[in-house]
Amino acid sequence: MSEKLIEVVENAGIVRLTISRPKALNALNSDVLAELGSVLSDLEARDDLRAVLITGAGDKSFVAGADIGEMRDKTPEEARAFARQALATFKRLETLPVPTVALVNGFCLGGGCELALACDWAVASDNAIFGQPEVLLGVIPGFGGTQRLPRRVGPAMAIDLVATGRKIDASEALRIGLVNRVMAPAELEAYTEELTKQLSGNGPEAVRGAKQAVHDGLDQDLESALSLETSLFALCFAGKEQKEGMSAFVEKRKPNF
Ligand code: CAA
Repeated sequence: MSEKLIEVVENAGIVRLTISRPKALNALNSDVLAELGSVLSDLEARDDLRAVLITGAGDKSFVAGADIGEMRDKTPEEARAFARQALATFKRLETLPVPTVALVNGFCLGGGCELALACDWAVASDNAIFGQPEVLLGVIPGFGGTQRLPRRVGPAMAIDLVATGRKIDASEALRIGLVNRVMAPAELEAYTEELTKQLSGNGPEAVRGAKQAVHDGLDQDLESALSLETSLFALCFAGKEQKEGMSAFVEKRKPNF
């Protein structure tokens, strides 16, 4: 039997996905993308899911980019198909109705950075290295980097990174807002476990609504986005979570979602 490229480990609705091609620093080839897409499709169908973590196998790399060996001889049409496969897979991750956390344990370059950008949170070890080095290979980012990076860090910093291809360390990634937290590698596991536990303890419908409002709102003008927020806010009052959350506050107890 062939080895799995995506390892899936689950505990109480918290699913951890590990991209497992450590000899190639977990570079994304079409087999990895296909397997990731299939795993995400199974997760989409579940209503007991609370959070998803994604990381890279080994202690050196999260994901060092799209697979350069595979891309080298592609025609424009094949490159388009490869990019579309990645974009569809990352969209699945981005629109999962639960919090998603990229656990960045090393190189986070090109397609790897674009993968992290498709997650809600990025938590990095202090030795992680980030960048969009595609121009150094004669191409531009093709897995969403030119669009998600400016939305995360602003257009000036995005152009700086995309046009120079320079690599940045974890502290700069934190300063520009590319990642949420940076810590020593030894602390990463415990922190992420605590974060996912905290996230998964919140009302799942409210978390889903908050995520949808942010993502869908970013693609709309402000008026439409605020109107979307109002609709989703009002919808909360049709469900059980709002009753439980507000009753728990008034009754001075912890909510049970
Ligand atoms: N694709 C394919 N293989 C890769 C890879 C990638 N993106 N990154 C690393 N590897 C492979 C190397 O070829 C090497 O394989 P071999 O042992 O068989 O030679 C193995 O992983 C280990 O890599 P190195 O020996 O290079 O390790 P290093 O510690 O010296 O350097 C590195 C690490 C700085 C990350 C370096 O490997 C590197 O620069 N990798 C490429 C990074 C990159 O350019 N990423 C962007 C890719 S393009 C992209 O992602 C386009 C897009 O938007 C869709």
